[in-house]
Amino acid sequence: MLGGPAVKLEGTRKWPIYDGSEEQALVDVLRSGKWGRGSGQMVLRFESKYASLMGVKHCLATANGTSALLTSMAALEVGPGDEVILPPYTFVATLNAVLERHALPVFVDSDRKSFQIDAKKVEAAVTPRTRVIMPVHMAGAAADMDTLLAIGAKHKVPVLEDACQAVMGEWRGKKLGTLGALGCFSFQASKNLNSGEGGAVMTNDESLFYRCSHFHSNGRSPHKVDPGFTYTGHGLNLRLTEFQGGLLLAQLARLEAQSRTREQNADYLAGLFREIPGIAPSQQYEGCTRNAWHLFMFRYDAAKFGGLTRAQFLKALAAEGVPASSGYTPLNKEPLVKNVVLSRGYKKIYSEGELKAWDEKNHCPENDKLCQEAVWFTQTTLLGPRTDMDRIATAVRKIQRFAKELKA
Ligand SMILES: Cc1ncc(COP(=O)(O)O)c(C=O)c1O
Repeated sequence: MLGGPAVKLEGTRKWPIYDGSEEQALVDVLRSGKWGRGSGQMVLRFESKYASLMGVKHCLATANGTSALLTSMAALEVGPGDEVILPPYTFVATLNAVLERHALPVFVDSDRKSFQIDAKKVEAAVTPRTRVIMPVHMAGAAADMDTLLAIGAKHKVPVLEDACQAVMGEWRGKKLGTLGALGCFSFQASKNLNSGEGGAVMTNDESLFYRCSHFHSNGRSPHKVDPGFTYTGHGLNLRLTEFQGGLLLAQLARLEAQSRTREQNADYLAGLFREIPGIAPSQQYEGCTRNAWHLFMFRYDAAKFGGLTRAQFLKALAAEGVPASSGYTPLNKEPLVKNVVLSRGYKKIYSEGELKAWDEKNHCPENDKLCQEAVWFTQTTLLGPRTDMDRIATAVRKIQRFAKELKA
């Protein structure tokens, strides 16, 4: 921005990564003529492989992460009059799954250091109406599962993990998305495991699995030999196609190596960043034994950069050839939330007093601050060479050194 040479990253950040194995899988499905779930073997093979990789009994592939969440909500019988506890620092789909069931979203503030739901504040939000506790493993690191599972057990409330960003992440050696009653994944195009769109629900509970399986296929479980045309519950069509099953099987072959590259680069970059005043990489809880690194997140302190605003900092990073973003806005304050919760339908379910009490409690001040400080790099940045991490740190130090001139 001041006329000197840009730092520029060497890596291509090419995504998705594929080769002849993806092409072959797609052509195989095409030529088989078995394009939809139920007729071919690709989705079934993926479900079985993913379940064993995750160390869980059942995997149900779904059309996307949103439908995995919706399917789980239905299986857990979340409905009108219920409350669901969730973090405000997440993608909107986490919230939409709650609203689609006409339940009340109860936002629990963020822990700014970890960017995760502040598990210590969850118990105070539990009421007799709490139907589900839904942590999000934000960016692929773990929410504090010890605390959340203990609260769930104490109050007999199931924990539904939104692990959409956390493919391969772990808590005390167990895969994220397999610790609660149900866990949900997304294989949408930006995710670490990618089939353009796609998702999965994981569980060790057979009856929950069958409920999910029914719901995601119009109330006719594809896991029954002959689903017939009798219906015991309602459902939707949220099935994954055989093409996507084939893509996922091919992509799975690269997952471990890519995860390791991201981990090594992220650990190295976090080490470099900790030396820079005003840059605070997200911290992991001690129980997080593996971070999936869907995003690399840090908090930016403008005061340590001569008052250079976060927007100016991001602009300078872009000029250095380092793509970054400011991440989420406070979800609990989005007009969408009030528009739905104060809508005609909700007013039929909840009394004026209940909605007023909900509105008065809907404050997450730590999260408001976090949303103003956060900076993200995407997972593709972490797939570059280690020298790119050095270049990123060089760019940040350079911006700090010239902060006054950049501000002017
Ligand atoms: C935390 C979280 N939850 C849910 C979703 C929804 O997944 P999808 O986009 O596959 O529907 C996403 C991803 O987009 C996500 O990041």
